[in-house]
Order: sequence, then C-alpha cells, then structure tokens
Amino acid sequence: MAKLRTQVGIVGAGPAGLTLAHLLRLMGIESIVIENRSRAYIEERVRAGVLEQGVVDLYNETGVGARMMREGLLHHGIELRFDRKGRRIDFADLTGGRGIMVYAQHEVIKDLVKARLDSGQPLLFEVENTAVRDIDGKRPRISFRHQGAEQEIECDFVAGADGFHGICRPAFPEGALAVFERNYPFAWLGILARVAPSTDELIYSYHERGFALHSMRTPEISRLYLQVPPSEDLDDWSADRIWNELKLRFELEGWTLKDGPIIQKDLTRMRSFVAEPMRRGNLFLLGDAAHIVPPTGAKGLNLAVADVRVFARALEAFYGKNDADKLARYSDTALRRIWKAERFSWWMTQMLHRFEGEDPFGHRMHLAELDYVTSSRAGSTALAENYVGLPWE
Ligand code: FAD
Ligand code: DHB
Repeated sequence: MAKLRTQVGIVGAGPAGLTLAHLLRLMGIESIVIENRSRAYIEERVRAGVLEQGVVDLYNETGVGARMMREGLLHHGIELRFDRKGRRIDFADLTGGRGIMVYAQHEVIKDLVKARLDSGQPLLFEVENTAVRDIDGKRPRISFRHQGAEQEIECDFVAGADGFHGICRPAFPEGALAVFERNYPFAWLGILARVAPSTDELIYSYHERGFALHSMRTPEISRLYLQVPPSEDLDDWSADRIWNELKLRFELEGWTLKDGPIIQKDLTRMRSFVAEPMRRGNLFLLGDAAHIVPPTGAKGLNLAVADVRVFARALEAFYGKNDADKLARYSDTALRRIWKAERFSWWMTQMLHRFEGEDPFGHRMHLAELDYVTSSRAGSTALAENYVGLPWE
C-alpha cells in the first residue's frame, strides 16, 4: 500500500473542500484533496447559483475571482411577487451598498480546480472505498483506492468536506452527534432554459398554486424553479406543462415570461439538517457534511465557504503560532452562523411555499407577512442583511 503524508487530508472536492485547499495553500499549509467523482462530473453538476458578498470578496482577495467578475451577474436587489404585485427589496440601500453575485456553483468549481492544478498540489479524482481511521489519535488516516492501487494518507487533521452523503459524518462514533432535522412536504423542480431571463433581478413568487423562482445563469440562460410534491415524477412534466405552470405562478399585469428550449430538468428535495458538534478528535466536518438548508434564500454553498474560512484561520493559528484555541472553538464558532442561516432558510421557505391542507387563514398569513416584509424598512432590512450574508465572525 502506498503511504502519503500531509498536514490536512481533505475528503471531497465540492465548494468546501476546494476552497479549503486554496486558502491553505496561500497560508503555506500542505493538503491533499481526494474526490470520488471525475473532474468532468463535478465541473458540470448543476447546483446553486448565488454567492454572498463576503464569498465574492474572499475569492477576489485570494486571486480566484477574475472570471467570476467578468462573467458573473452582480445584483443589488430581488423582487418578491405575491397577490399579483411585484415589490423590490433594495439590498444596496438597506445594507450599505452590499449585493450578491449570480455565478453558477459549477463555474466556481472550475475556477478552484484550475487554481489547484496550476499550483501543482495534489487533487485526486475518481477515488474509491474512502475510509477515515484513528480520528481520535494524533495521526488520523484516510484510506482509499486510486487507479487500482490502495493508498493511505497520514495527516494531522482530516477535513470532512464530502457532502451530505459522504463517509466522514458516519465516522463519528455512535451517539457522538446530536442531529436536528426537518423535512418539508415539497420539492423544487428546476430547469435550465436557453432563453434570455425575463427579469434583471431574481423573482421569488408566492402564489396559491405554489412557489416559483426565476433566476438566471447568463444573459442567454435562465434558471427557474417550481414547488412540486416531493414524490413528483419528472417525466410527468413536459416542457409545455412546466412553462404553463410558471406563467400562472408569475402572473403580473404588463409582464410576460419568455419561454425557450429546456436544456436540463432536476428535482431537489427540501430539508433542514444540522449535526452537532462538527469536530471529533482530529476530524472536522465542513459544509453539507454537517448541515443542509432548504434552497430558498441560496445559503448552502455560502455556508460551506463560511465554515472553511473559520477552519482555515484556526489552522493558520495552530501552525503559525502553536495556538489550538481556535481549533477548539471551531464547531461553536461555525454553528453560530449555521443556525442563523438555518433560521433564515426555514423562514424564507415557510413564508413563500404553500403547505398542503393550508386553509384560507393560512393563505392570508403568507400575504400579510409578505406585505409587511416588503413595506416596512425593518422587515425589508431583516431579509436583505441575511440574503447578502451576515458579517463574518
Ligand atoms: P458538496 O458540493 O456536496 O461536495 C462534496 C464532494 O464530496 C462532492 O464532490 C462529492 O462527490 C465528494 N464525495 C462524497 N463522498 C465522497 C467520498 N467518500 N470520497 C471522496 N469524495 C466524496 N444550494 C443553494 O443555495 N441553491 C441551490 O439551488 C441548490 N441546489 C442544489 C441542488 C442539489 C441537487 C444539491 C445536492 C444541492 C443544492 N444546493 C443548493 C446546495 C449546495 O449546492 C451545497 O450546499 C454545496 O454544494 C455544499 O458544498 P460542499 O462542498 O459542502 O458539498
Ligand atoms: C438559485 C437557487 C436558489 O436556491 C435561490 O434561492 C436563488 C437562486 C439559483 O439556482 O440560481
């Protein structure tokens, strides 16, 4: 068996693992990243699309933001649509000039993979049989098979950045994790369509027939979502049916939704999930490996990057000043932000979706809440400051 040695072994090349590898390299800390999918797969996987201001700033400050600044779409507000009215939340005005960047997650992945490979530091794709061992000891290990050969990495620390279905969270001993969870009784049917967006800014629409979201990827490609039952079969949704439903849910006098060829269709389950604590011995969890938010409000990727920033700084203090205090506080520090993002995503989800069996009183509550949020400066500010991202710790 080939034996490798590094300071930080990183499991998973999603936004969390790749951002961590990038920050550590700039800090002079060695790492090895292993990923069970291929490079092409992770660079094409369609997921989130909105970056908070702080994440945009971080990528710019660390030299991986150039393409994002050229190709991404900078937005300073969103529209909330309900009761056949559209009302704008002006982020710039409400948050002192802050905004968000519409830039697809897989484009972020491409930029980070390129930065990693250009640096000459190890990033192994298509590994199999990953396992973590001796996490309670001084020298935790990651074992896996790569190109037919068994390998093992001995590390100081293991970063579990392997997403919700990874192997790092299950490596915690039985009973070591407290899990907090909520499943929502609906899913999002998402499409990518080859048509110019019908709007300059994202539209979140609450409608009697259910929630709909109009987002975008480029000036030529639109991304739209529809609330549907979780058991829905994508084959039951023809292009005509999708566009008809979207048109009904976005209906507004004087505004039309342009349609076009659908180039991808997907279904996303809606779940809130947090596992505490995010550290066991020398294994640290980051991103979706430890927590999931429903997508309303676009916090998933941003939260993964926030964990990484806290962890990277803790490692910098450990290696640079022999100070393990920030590592000891990693879980508590990260969880403070995580719970606030969980609350925001849960709140946006319950405000904007129709729940089965909801009575007319429930419907009026949605409308009254949306009216309050969009007409009170305090209400709008609460939404805006969470959406653009609360300050880093
Ligand atoms: P991931 O991106 O999941 O990365 C984990 C990586 O680890 C993956 O590349 C995986 O292949 C790899 N891996 C897993 N197991 C192993 C193993 N055993 N060995 C080696 N590697 C392993 N968020 C939003 O805000 N808006 C959205 O619209 C949105 N849509 C989404 C749609 C889908 C289908 C999914 C799954 C998520 C979506 N999210 C969305 C959430 C957002 O994409 C995630 O929060 C974000 O990807 C988290 O990054 P991560 O690096 O923690 O995890
Ligand atoms: C997108 C996804 C979200 O969950 C969201 O709240 C806004 C935009 C998107 O994929 O573009």
